[in-house]
Amino acid sequence: MSEPVRTALSPRIHAPPPARDPRFHVVERWVDCAALPAGTPASELEFLHRQMHEELTAVESSARTLADFPDADWQVRLDLARQCSDEARHARMFRRVLERRGGKVGQSPVLSFQYRIIVAIDTLIGRLTVQNRSFEAGGIDAIEDGIADARRRGVQDLLELLDAQLADEVVHVRFANAAIADLKSRDPAHLLSMGTALTQAGKAFREVMGDEGTAGAHHRVSGEARREAGFSAEEIRAADQLAERLVSQRGPESEKARDAR
Ligand SMILES: [Fe+2]
Ligand SMILES: [Fe+2]
Repeated sequence: MSEPVRTALSPRIHAPPPARDPRFHVVERWVDCAALPAGTPASELEFLHRQMHEELTAVESSARTLADFPDADWQVRLDLARQCSDEARHARMFRRVLERRGGKVGQSPVLSFQYRIIVAIDTLIGRLTVQNRSFEAGGIDAIEDGIADARRRGVQDLLELLDAQLADEVVHVRFANAAIADLKSRDPAHLLSMGTALTQAGKAFREVMGDEGTAGAHHRVSGEARREAGFSAEEIRAADQLAERLVSQRGPESEKARDAR
């Protein structure tokens, strides 16, 4: 059977990917990642490997924001530098758990989509909105689900990893929420930049994920962790309603795609 034809991702909304050594097989779209039956040792290794790589791209995204906005307030720069250190620790944590189970770096295809979407945004408030307030806030919800699952299955090392990761991710979302509020209070025009960045990121995300990837991208919204991360009750309610709407729109095909993750 011939390979499906892939159109290139739009370069205006996807920055060039970060460099990787030859161990990695980097793909551009979700559909080219390994789709393995859920609940198997192979799918767990694929998940751990993918998470390890996402943490690596989080280091690179925050580092690029630090480099690209040298005039940002000192507090934001300090918080971004701390985030780099935290994300590097997360990547190492996932690598340890992966290798303990017999997995290895480069074992399955990876995406650098978050980095590419974030770095294509040309405002600081836009980057914080998309990386921390959207991707990472969504990550908080997913981690809480992962913690419940690891506890149910009695997987102690994964439970400890996710618990430690959650504490850091809440801090990353919280500092961004504070920085965004500060920027908005200084100039309401920043609101426009937030909207532009979200629209651009949404379009780029859909290009990468297609129907297969977006079907599994929504989790129950974690009220408590989001509150800690600086979201208002109204914002949590709105996120919850959106997640519910997206879940209720899933057809049987979407469920299948999610279960293959
Ligand atoms: Fe992280
Ligand atoms: Fe983070």
